[in-house]
Amino acid sequence: MIVTIDGPAGAGKSSIARDVAEELGFAFLDTGAMYRAITFGAMRAGVPLDDVEALVAFATDAELTWNDDRIDLDGQDVSEEIRTPAVTSNIRFVADPSEIRGCLTEQQRRIARGRDIVTEGRDQGTEVFPDADCKIFLTASPEERARRRQLQLAAAGRAVSLDEVLAAQNQRDQEDQLREVGRLRAADDAIVIQTDGMDPDQVKQAVLDAVRSCL
Ligand code: C5P
Repeated sequence: MIVTIDGPAGAGKSSIARDVAEELGFAFLDTGAMYRAITFGAMRAGVPLDDVEALVAFATDAELTWNDDRIDLDGQDVSEEIRTPAVTSNIRFVADPSEIRGCLTEQQRRIARGRDIVTEGRDQGTEVFPDADCKIFLTASPEERARRRQLQLAAAGRAVSLDEVLAAQNQRDQEDQLREVGRLRAADDAIVIQTDGMDPDQVKQAVLDAVRSCL
């Protein structure tokens, strides 16, 4: 069974998808981590990010290994390094070109083959797994997502104003929604869960109910 969870940045997809997968005994795939790992690797290797051909070559040669909560790039664990603001602000160079998306789409399908899996990202229900058994679109208002993100950052010792978080988030939303291939949108047959005012437990329950309604 394939369960896809798509939605905008800050909707809490990763933690909810991980929890739901654990509860169901399914594998879990964070596809954003794959885009992040290629971005991080290209930056570290000094690949000019505006050189699409060079980036495609890098992405094609890179060996990504996903193991439930850890991502390795060419045999090295990069799970921490991929979460920096510098990587986040450069992801569009990797996420925009259709050749790179095609390469990662293939890998995502290979990872899911023959397994029960919860996979989360932006295009899982629309492009990567159009025949998924259950498609969920997890979202919340920009203000609510920014508030949650600000709290996460504060917990990690980074005091950032709400305006700053909201501006960065709006920028990412725009980039994700305007992409030519794999743009952020709910699949026509997705169950949309609007999480404003819900706590993480309530969101998890809503997602589990949605999955059970697909059985
Ligand atoms: O989910 P996360 O915020 O880690 O994803 C990082 C970025 O990777 C997203 O903002 C988006 O631009 C890109 N992405 C994508 N397609 C996916 C997952 C992530 O384009 N399936």
